Amino acid sequence: MKEWTREEKYRVLKDASEIEPMHEMIQKSKYRQLLHVQGVTGLINDPNGYVYHNGVWHLFYQWCPWGAVHGLKYWYHTVSKDLVEWQNRGIAIRPDTIYDNKGAYSGSALVAKESIYLYYTGNHRDEDWKRTSYTCIANMRDDGSYHKYSKPLFAAHPGYTEHQRDPKIIWREEEDMYYIILGAQTKDKRGCALIYRSKEFNKNWEFAGELKVPGFEDFGDMWECPSLERISGRDVLLFCPQHLTIPNRGMDRNHNGYLIGEMDWNTLTFTPETQFHVLDFGFDSYAAGCASNIGARNVNDPSALTRDDKAILVAWMGLPDVSYPTDEENWAGCLTLPRELTVRHRRLIQRPLENLRRLRDGEADLKTNRLPDACEIELINRGEDLSVTLFTDERGRGGVSILFDYASKTITIDRSGMKRRFNVEAGEERSRNLGHNLAHMRIYIDRSSFEIFINDGDAVFTSRIFPEDDEHGWLVEGDVSLRIWKLRPAVKDDFVL
Ligand code: FRU
Repeated sequence: MKEWTREEKYRVLKDASEIEPMHEMIQKSKYRQLLHVQGVTGLINDPNGYVYHNGVWHLFYQWCPWGAVHGLKYWYHTVSKDLVEWQNRGIAIRPDTIYDNKGAYSGSALVAKESIYLYYTGNHRDEDWKRTSYTCIANMRDDGSYHKYSKPLFAAHPGYTEHQRDPKIIWREEEDMYYIILGAQTKDKRGCALIYRSKEFNKNWEFAGELKVPGFEDFGDMWECPSLERISGRDVLLFCPQHLTIPNRGMDRNHNGYLIGEMDWNTLTFTPETQFHVLDFGFDSYAAGCASNIGARNVNDPSALTRDDKAILVAWMGLPDVSYPTDEENWAGCLTLPRELTVRHRRLIQRPLENLRRLRDGEADLKTNRLPDACEIELINRGEDLSVTLFTDERGRGGVSILFDYASKTITIDRSGMKRRFNVEAGEERSRNLGHNLAHMRIYIDRSSFEIFINDGDAVFTSRIFPEDDEHGWLVEGDVSLRIWKLRPAVKDDFVL
């Protein structure tokens, strides 16, 4: 594996020609995705600034151009009309001021005065590599240019460690007040979230206090990417607690989960009514973000957008501190498919968007037992126990096994049968007690990932996967009805800077 020097990781990108040859090489990779947003080169991580404006969905993400390494981070911009087909738009925020000299880190977006404002973390480091973070703002102009404000909205709070980042902007119509929720770490190394507020979206921000979350005062040592969403009339606190292990998550130490409860904005207290639930029961998912201030009643009809109903979520299909097989090809990471969120029985329900059906391009021939490069599998289970194996080799061996045990109502996904294994240390098996029968599964397969939606969004398992040329078979044992649709490509792998 390549050892990166600091200079290499934090090199400033001056011209497209510095990375275009790398992009050409990468495009030849058999693992380039057809349905998922991915970087032109290098590493991508968190989705940022997800927002809907004037008929277009804007989605940005963290991007380091130079290779599969967390180095200098830019915001890269993609757009979509239907949340399914995405187009590259190029760099949005460059780390080119004193406040963000070592990275334009994660954040969110808001539509104000008829245009988009991006809130992000300026990751500043001095010559001794000491970090200070700033909460910054940039305006995206109609001509597609970006105007950064000359000063940050506010600097890091002196009462917390250097780890303060990932502003999520929230507008509360009820109070006509703007809030920012920020991930942070207390001086005695406990994860928390900080709240700032202002009457104006772009000035006069003041520190309101630390968010109180009774029962979660000592839950990981840093909370990344916190956000507060109103979904199905409930308050949902989403965040990524770091450096702790939790049951059923193998040796993973970074998690993305949520609490459902009630937010009291006067006392800045979020009272959880549930335990901490992980968002995704699979392997590779982190730093999820919801489209700002938008609940989409019907995402097929953007004119029907309302607040306070549903939310649209997208996550990084990857994890911090994990190496992936494409690292050696100089790229890593992609984003998940967008998911529609609702709350049912004190749980988040995540459904793939209806719009994805537009990608169906005929049904696959079930007799060949060969998975198309990109496909959708729908399985209805009429029986009890069920075994599905995907990515088996020519002799029907290996692959990813999906087992449902009716007696214990437990589903188990095991990816240890793949030839190219990775992040083995964290454990190659994930299971979940569904509490009832497995009736329905919808699986989206792309060239290097799968996303399994169980029982209409009750549970989701997301994973990267890197099949060899002979690993495209499938097997099913059980009393099922099955359909497989080929899907046409939805993301254009073109070089736009
Ligand atoms: C989460 C994260 C954020 C940070 C960004 C940097 O994956 O560590 O906290 O803003 O990535 O790329």
